[in-house]
Amino acid sequence: MAYRIANNMIRTTKILDVKDENSTTKIFTFKDKLCLKAKPGQFLMLWIPGVDEVPLSILNVEKDGTVSVLVKRVGDATEALHKKRINDIIGIRGPFGRGFTLKTGKLLLVGGGTGLAPLIFLAKKLAVKAEKLVFIAGAKMKEELLLLDELKNLSHKENVKVVFTTEDGSYGFKGLATKPLELTLQQGERFDMIYTCGPEKMMRKVFDLAEAYKINLEASLERLMRCAIGLCGSCVIGKYRVCRDGPVFTKEQLKEVKNEFGVFKRNFEGKKVPIE
Ligand SMILES: Cc1cc2nc3c(=O)[nH]c(=O)nc-3n(C[C@H](O)[C@H](O)[C@H](O)COP(=O)(O)OP(=O)(O)OC[C@H]3O[C@@H](n4cnc5c(N)ncnc54)[C@H](O)[C@@H]3O)c2cc1C
Ligand code: FES
Repeated sequence: MAYRIANNMIRTTKILDVKDENSTTKIFTFKDKLCLKAKPGQFLMLWIPGVDEVPLSILNVEKDGTVSVLVKRVGDATEALHKKRINDIIGIRGPFGRGFTLKTGKLLLVGGGTGLAPLIFLAKKLAVKAEKLVFIAGAKMKEELLLLDELKNLSHKENVKVVFTTEDGSYGFKGLATKPLELTLQQGERFDMIYTCGPEKMMRKVFDLAEAYKINLEASLERLMRCAIGLCGSCVIGKYRVCRDGPVFTKEQLKEVKNEFGVFKRNFEGKKVPIE
């Protein structure tokens, strides 16, 4: 409990670096000691003074406590964050939630959009021991394919294969990220685990394939978050609170919320709205 309370205390820190990833996405780097123990899939709440607080997956943590996050500009808070520069002050709470479990053997990772951030953090840890790691990274077009250099670096490891997909065919395989996944599974090779993070419709398809091929799966979900510690209820899915019980859920847990997963989310008023 003491650990949890400490994690929930806001710490202010200076931005150490800001890097453009593409026209809408930046990587921010700062120091935070409590994030040293963060597991891939866990998230933090980043406070932009005078604006708002947003949940963000942890992209990387170095041994000296240097943390990075990947931030896509989608609304007021992320836009205000994008205007921040080196030495500006931000606030951090976390790390929060349940991360991915680290498995060995043959592993498949399927991600898209900003969902690639926690998967890269995970892949770097898994690649040390995995017999084989196949990472399928998707986007609508090449310009939207995030963390391309990181993914290319990862693909230089002997046990790692990275498959790029774009919907318009401007880079890698043409089509949705789930297509090469389906083809890989159809070839009959046995995998020990599928990890996924990205648009929920994509994750739902990955879940359905994992069910059909009887493979273990963990998926990291996004919902609106305010408190991040299981109190406010804004992140609810079925009987779960994504901030506390997730954001990473097992296949068994997702089966229990099958009617909502990939189908509905809740808006700022708490009303169920269809997932596009
Ligand atoms: C566990 C978790 C991890 C996340 N990791 C990342 C990440 O690594 N990088 C990244 O760029 N984004 C990530 N997000 C999404 C990010 O939190 C939202 O994009 C951000 O909160 C939007 O704030 P805003 O004020 O700029 O936009 P708003 O004006 O509030 O909303 C713009 C759009 O973003 C959606 N949105 C708004 N707030 C949230 C929220 N708290 N959670 C989810 N969706 C929201 C809205 O439905 C709307 O479509 C994550 C969300 C969760 C829950
Ligand atoms: S964000 Fe408040 S309960 Fe999850």
